[in-house]
Formats: sequence, structure tokens, C-alpha cells
Amino acid sequence: MYQQYFGFKESPFNITPNSKFFFASLRHTEALNTMVYAVSERKGFVVITGDIGAGKTTVCRALVNQLDSRTQVALITNTLMNGRDLISTILEDLEAQYTPGSKAKLLFQLNNYLIEQLRENNNVVLIIDEAQNLTPSVLEEVRLLSNLETESEKLIQIIFLGQPELKKKLAMNRLEQLRQRVAVYYHLSPLTKDEAREYILHRLKIASKSDRQYFTEEALETVYNFSNGVPRLINQICDSALLSAYVAEAAQVTDQTMREVIAESPMIQITSGQPVLPKKESALAEDLTTKIYFKG
Ligand SMILES: Nc1ncnc2c1ncn2[C@@H]1O[C@H](COP(=O)(O)OP(=O)(O)OP(=O)(O)O)[C@@H](O)[C@H]1O
Ligand SMILES: [Mg+2]
Repeated sequence: MYQQYFGFKESPFNITPNSKFFFASLRHTEALNTMVYAVSERKGFVVITGDIGAGKTTVCRALVNQLDSRTQVALITNTLMNGRDLISTILEDLEAQYTPGSKAKLLFQLNNYLIEQLRENNNVVLIIDEAQNLTPSVLEEVRLLSNLETESEKLIQIIFLGQPELKKKLAMNRLEQLRQRVAVYYHLSPLTKDEAREYILHRLKIASKSDRQYFTEEALETVYNFSNGVPRLINQICDSALLSAYVAEAAQVTDQTMREVIAESPMIQITSGQPVLPKKESALAEDLTTKIYFKG
């Protein structure tokens, strides 16, 4: 709505992951490199955890874009399924020829497909996003897939991406065998204060192709204090702030606008007046808290 007013070619803070806006923060780069390394070295199992909205799906998309044509990818995002459906979804995603049947029959066909790919010198990667939703028994099924190997090589590289619950699930006693097979683990933390600022400016620049200062420095700091550096929260609040500035016919988002938008955000309202702010007692935090409680 505000795009034309501010001269944006497209929306700068869309909340769907879009590779065009990828911001290579230190942590996103490390997560990406971890996966690239594990796939190219055929390490077997990789687990990436990260807070809600930290950018797991975004780095997963960046990975898929980076893989070469010798790597076949199955990307699973619907994790609310049983073991048999999971295997048939993997076969479909890999565009493998198969005939439907029992789980054992599907596994047999997947194994044949993997051997064929190895013979052709191809690598196969299974990426499971939202892996925190997999039940322990389906997690076990995936472990059985990692048993598909030759004497010297893993036939399939498996990457789990999930919220911190995934780590808790993997710590369960009954999943020890799976846990022992995890070759690489990485936790994607939110952006630091400096990175959050850079992240916002990066998205604005891509959308506007200009260096115009859309937010005051104080407003940028307030976004960080609200979001704790979580990209999705940054996007949501910056989008609302630009809309608010447009409605007020302002040229820039000021700190005052930003605080008002935060106080009225659904995040704050749903958590019934509990401010989503870091624990540290900054004057800014107190200020904002007062405002939110008054509003609520
Ligand atoms: N490195 C990044 N560069 C650009 N945008 C990013 C980056 N990281 C996250 N985002 C943006 O933040 C939002 C949330 O990212 P994403 O969906 O990848 O998070 P997630 O960790 O997968 O969340 P969930 O836990 O809900 O699955 C998206 O709009 C995405 O575009
Ligand atoms: Mg995600």
C-alpha cells in the first residue's frame, strides 16, 4: 500500500522467505556453510535448530539454490505424516520412478534409486524443515534411511531444520541411536543489534534501490529492543511502521511512530500487555513498557 509513496519497487518486509532479500549475517552464513559442507563431504546427518522466525527456512532455500545439478534434493515441509507417507513423499520429491506399496516395498525402491544415483556420481539430499513436528517413531524411520550406505559412503545426506523443541526431542532416551548419528549440529541465533540494523537497511536498499534513510537511528534501535533480533518480528514491525508513516504522510519512520506501532502490534496484544522486550532494564524498555501497559 505504501510502496508507491516511498518509492519501493516491491515490499521490503514481506514475511515469506525470498532469496532475493537474503542477508548473509554471520550466523546465517555459518548455518548455510555448515549444510553445504556436510552435503559435499557426505557427512550423513545434520541438525540445524533456531528460534521461531530466526531464518531456518530462509537458509534452507539458500542452500537449495546453491546446490549443483549433480545433487538431487527432496525438501519435505509437511512433517505431520507417518513413516510410510514420508517415504513416498521423498520418492515423489526426488522424481524417482516407483510403484506404491507397503513401507518395506517403498524403502526397497528408495534404496535402488540411491544406488543408481551413486553409480551416476550424484549426491542425494533429504531436507526436512519443521522437523520438530516429527513424532519419535517417524524420527526413527528417518534414522533407518541414514542406514542406507555402501561400505564407504552414505547414500543419502539428511538435514533436519527445526525449532528448539527438536533438540529436546532428539535428547529423548529412545532416540539415542539417531542422536549418535548426527555428524554436525548448528544453532541459528537471532541477529545482533548491529546486524539487525544492517538487515533492515539491506532489505530497504533492495526494495528501493536507493540509500534513502527511511528510519531514524532511534527507531532502528527500538526495533531491535522489541524483536531481540528475530528477523520475522523485525519484518512485521517495520512493515507496520512504514504503513503508519504513510498514513501520517511522514517522510520517515520516527522513534515515536515505531513505539506506537509496537504497542499496537498483534504480538503485544495477544500476549495481553506483556511486552516482548529483552530483560535488561534500559530506559527505553521502561519507557515502552509503561506505554504498553497504559495502552492495554
Ligand atoms: N538471513 C535472512 N535474510 C533475509 N531475510 C531473512 C533472513 N532470515 C530471516 N529472514 C526473514 O525472516 C522471516 C522469517 O524467516 P524464516 O521463515 O526463514 O524463519 P524460520 O526460522 O523458518 O521460522 P519458523 O520457526 O516459524 O519456521 C522471513 O520473512 C524471512 O524472509
Ligand atoms: Mg521455517
